Amino acid sequence: MKPWQKLLHWFDREGRKLPWRNTRDPYRILVSEIMLQQTQVTRVIDFYRAWMKRFPTWNALAKATNAEIIHAWAGLGYNRRGLALRDIARSIVTNGIPKTRNEWLTLKGIGPYTADALAVFSLHERHWPTDTNLRRVGGRLWLAKPYPQMSDDERIHKFADAWIPYTGRFFDLPQAAFDLATSICTKTPTCSTCPLKDDCLAAPKFLSGKVRTPKRMIKKTKEQIHPGKKYPDRIYRGRILSLVRQSESPIVISKIGALIDPTFSIIDQSWITAMIDRLIKDGLLAKSKNKLTLP
Ligand code: ADE
Repeated sequence: MKPWQKLLHWFDREGRKLPWRNTRDPYRILVSEIMLQQTQVTRVIDFYRAWMKRFPTWNALAKATNAEIIHAWAGLGYNRRGLALRDIARSIVTNGIPKTRNEWLTLKGIGPYTADALAVFSLHERHWPTDTNLRRVGGRLWLAKPYPQMSDDERIHKFADAWIPYTGRFFDLPQAAFDLATSICTKTPTCSTCPLKDDCLAAPKFLSGKVRTPKRMIKKTKEQIHPGKKYPDRIYRGRILSLVRQSESPIVISKIGALIDPTFSIIDQSWITAMIDRLIKDGLLAKSKNKLTLP
C-alpha cells in the first residue's frame, strides 16, 4: 500500500469529524482557516457554527458593519481577523470567487498557507498547506528532521509534490495530516502507533530514543510587552475592546486604564492611549470627544 493510502485509511478510522470538512464551499473553508489561525480547533468549533448561522454566505458577511463583526468575533481573539474576513467577502461579492490558488493569493489577508488550503480543499488542486502541523509531519516524513523549521518549507513542498497522488482523495491528505499532527505526530510523537511508521524517515530516530526534545519547537512570535506589565499589549487591547463591546453607553477614555489593569497608575496613560489609537486605526474602535464606542 502507498503511504498516502495508509494515511487515508487511518483518517477514515481515526479522523475528527469537524464542521468545515466534507465541503468544497470556499466560504466555509475560508472562515474555518481564518479562525484556526492562532486559535485551537476545540475553541473554534462552537464559534464556527455560530458564525455560519449568523453569516451563512459571502453576501451576508459582506453587508456586516464593523460593530456587528466585533460582536460576532467576541471571544476568538485577534479581532482584526474578523474585519479582514469581512473585507475579503466584500471583494468577492464585487469581483467574484477566485478560480486558482494564485488568484486567492492576490486578496489582502490571504497568504501562501491560506491560498494553499483553499486551493486543495475547494479547487482540488494538489497542495500541502504548510502550517506548523504540516511542517512537522512533512519534515519528519520526508526530511528525517525531528523538529523541522520554516527554512525547511521549500524542500517540504518539493517532497509533497512528489508524494501526493494525482487521483483519488488526494485533497483529504492535508486534513488527515492535521489530525495525525495533533494526535500521534505531536512534539513527542508516539511513532509506534503511526500509520506511516514504516515510511517516515524520522520515526527510527524517535523509536530508538535518540531524539532530545527541545524546550520550544518554533520561535514564539515576539509580542510587545510594556515595561512592568504582566501580559502582552494584545491582552490589554482585548480587554479595552471587551469593555467597550459590553458597555451600553460610550466609555470615557480616562477611566479605561483602571478598568483593564489593576496595577494602572497615571504614568501608564500614554501606554493606554497608544493602544486605543491602534484599535481605532485597525477599525475596531471609534472615538468621539473623550469617549469610546464601537465603530
Ligand atoms: N488547522 C488548520 N487548518 C485546519 C483544518 N482544516 N482542520 C484542522 N486543523 C487545522
